Parts: sequence; C-alpha cells; structure tokens
Amino acid sequence: MQEFGCFTSPLKSVKTNHMITKKLGIIGGGQLGRMSALAAARLGIQTFIYCPEQGCPASHVSAGTYFADYNNKKALAEFAAMVDVITYEFENIPVETVKYLQTFKPVFPDEQLLEISQDRVLEKKFLNDIGIKTAEWEPVNSYKDIEPVFNKWNEGAFILKTTRFGYDGKGQAKFKKGDNAKQVWKDLGAGPLIAEQIVDFKCELSMIIARDKLGQMVTYGPMMNEHQNSILHKTTMPPPGGLVTPEIEQDAIKLVQLLAEAVDLVGVLTLELFLTEDGRLLANEIAPRTHNSGHWTIDACVTSQFDNHVRAVCSLNVGAPRQHSDAEMLNLIGDDVKGAAKFLENPNACLHLYGKYDVRAGRKMGHVTFLDEQING
Ligand SMILES: Nc1ncnc2c1ncn2[C@@H]1O[C@H](COP(=O)(O)OP(=O)(O)O)[C@@H](O)[C@H]1O
Ligand SMILES: [Mg+2]
Repeated sequence: MQEFGCFTSPLKSVKTNHMITKKLGIIGGGQLGRMSALAAARLGIQTFIYCPEQGCPASHVSAGTYFADYNNKKALAEFAAMVDVITYEFENIPVETVKYLQTFKPVFPDEQLLEISQDRVLEKKFLNDIGIKTAEWEPVNSYKDIEPVFNKWNEGAFILKTTRFGYDGKGQAKFKKGDNAKQVWKDLGAGPLIAEQIVDFKCELSMIIARDKLGQMVTYGPMMNEHQNSILHKTTMPPPGGLVTPEIEQDAIKLVQLLAEAVDLVGVLTLELFLTEDGRLLANEIAPRTHNSGHWTIDACVTSQFDNHVRAVCSLNVGAPRQHSDAEMLNLIGDDVKGAAKFLENPNACLHLYGKYDVRAGRKMGHVTFLDEQING
C-alpha cells in the first residue's frame, strides 16, 4: 500500500502528568460531535454537548447535553462552568459565542480560524495572503458588481456564492453571459457574494491536519473526494494510482501545514483543494474542524481525525495517523440509509449510523467505510 500521511516519530507528550482534562464541552450536536464524543470516551474523557436541538446525534453518546440557543449567555456561562475545555463541531456558531465562552474556559480552535472560515471573502484573502493559491475571485457587494467581473475576466461563466452560511453547494449559482444579474442577486438572498472563476479540475482532494499545543502536526491525505448534487458522495484513500504524485502529495501537506501554523491551530482543520488538469493545487475552502472526508480514518488509521481532535484540544499530544488499510468511504444520504443493513453482511464494511430518525432527502444519515475493497459506483 502506498504510504500517505505525515508525522515525525516519535511524537512527544504535551504533559507528563497528562490525562488531566476530564470534561470536554462541544458546541454543536451533529455527527461530527457524536464521533468526537465517542473518541473522547475511549480516553476516559466525558463529553458535554451544547446544542439548540433536542435529541441531536451527539447527545445520544455524551454524558450530558445542554439544550439552548447559541446566544443565550446565561446558558453558555452555566455550560462553561461544567467543563474543563471547549471545542466546536461546526462553523456557523457565532464568533461572539466563542469569544464569550473564552472568558470562562479555553476554546480550541480559537475564534480567528472560525471567523475566517465563516466568510468566503475573508477566507480567500487569508489564504492568498499566506501564499496559498485559490481560484481567481472578486467580492460582489451589489448586483451592479457582476457585470464588471464579466468584463474583467472575459470568461463565458463563473460561480457566485454567498459569502456566509453556504454548505453542500447551497447558496451558489453558475452565472453565464446573458443571465439577469439582478435576478440572480435576489435568488441568492441579496447579500454579499463572492465571484469565483470555474476551476477545470482533474479531481477534488482534501487534507486534514491535527496540531497539538507543542505545535506537533500530523496530516491525513490527500484524499480524493467525489460529490453528487454538491454533497460529498465518496472519499477514496489513497486516491487511485497515479492521480496524486509524490510531489503533489508533498505540496498538499505543505499547504495545510502552512495554514495550521498561520492560525496557530490547536485541534483539527481541513483544507479542500482542487487538483487542476495541469497539476496545480488550488485551495477551495477551509473547515475549522473534522471533516466528512476524514471519516474513513476511524476504521483505517491507528489514530483517527476524531481521536486527534480530542487529544489536541485536551492538552494531549497528537498521535500517529498511520493508515493500515486502503479505504473507501461512502456517505449514506437520505433514503440510502434504508438499505444500510446489507453492509452488515460484508466483512470489509464498517457501518456508522448517526442516530437521525427523521430521514430527509439530502440529509447525511450515516456512512460506510470499506477496507481494502473498491466500491463500484
Ligand atoms: N471555483 C470553482 N470551480 C469549480 N467547481 C467549484 C468551484 N467552487 C465550488 N465548486 C464545486 O462546488 C462544490 C461545493 O462548493 P464549496 O465551495 O466547497 O462549498 P460548500 O462545500 O460549502 O457547499 C465543490 O466541492 C466543487 O465541486
Ligand atoms: Mg466544500
């Protein structure tokens, strides 16, 4: 098997008297929080969830859940008092919430990374400023800004995205010559947008990095990601032979390390990348957290992305991400979950269901990781 992933061995312990964090608070209660809570439990760390939705996936596997809104200061203060350290599991919690929590307990990653990842203009600017290339982009603050972008780029089409709150392809539109700028602006919510040139990519990749308080870094990837209807469908690791050369792998590792150091990361972040037809890597977006494209690490690595996230934020050293099996991860979206039982018969399949009882189209219900076996389709 081709060896991917990067770490220097041996990794040092952050503390000699470690294992002092007993209670980890997680803001957000989705499947990423759930899988982090399961990883924490293996290390004897109790997890407490803060989430507005009753019955959220993370609450099923945690020591306690605090159901309240993200701007409820009284509830946030009470929650902070219950835990030793706090992290978050999705990027749309208000930056103010993190800043307020920091007045009580440490929060990792800190608010700088959160703020950058919440706004596509800030994000692209930050990446470019530290020397990471992206698609060409322009801010669009009114429908009147759209025509000049056309004239400047002279391309047949480009992508418009809302600067905030986009996910799974939501808040995006392809804009073509002759389209009605005013209408598209309205359809996308009449708020700040970013225009991006369309990248002619060979494939989409991602890199995940964990960094601890000693600055030790371990990486996963580059993984190859395939989307359907703008939702991640399949992740393959390692990518099919020849697609990612050793040079591209090293470039991808350097980019994500550069980013992690620039934001003084403690925890995990993800960098989504395009590999262009002519072999360049362009950054697409940052997730200030564990990522769907890293779910295979639970079953195929010595230390998963969730293990390392918990370790880093709880003042432990990050651990070896060594991959012991080839892996393909298939997302179970909406009705896919109804056929999940068949995977229980497959000796190479590791099934994960998120405990979401309300099946909706486009909803991530679970995933399955196939070890040393290729998925067809
Ligand atoms: N500039 C671009 N060029 C080509 N494809 C793009 C571009 N931006 C986004 N896409 C496609 O749309 C998908 C979703 O866009 P992304 O910016 O990752 O937003 P999100 O994942 O938050 O919905 C990407 O994974 C990619 O397939
Ligand atoms: Mg994306």
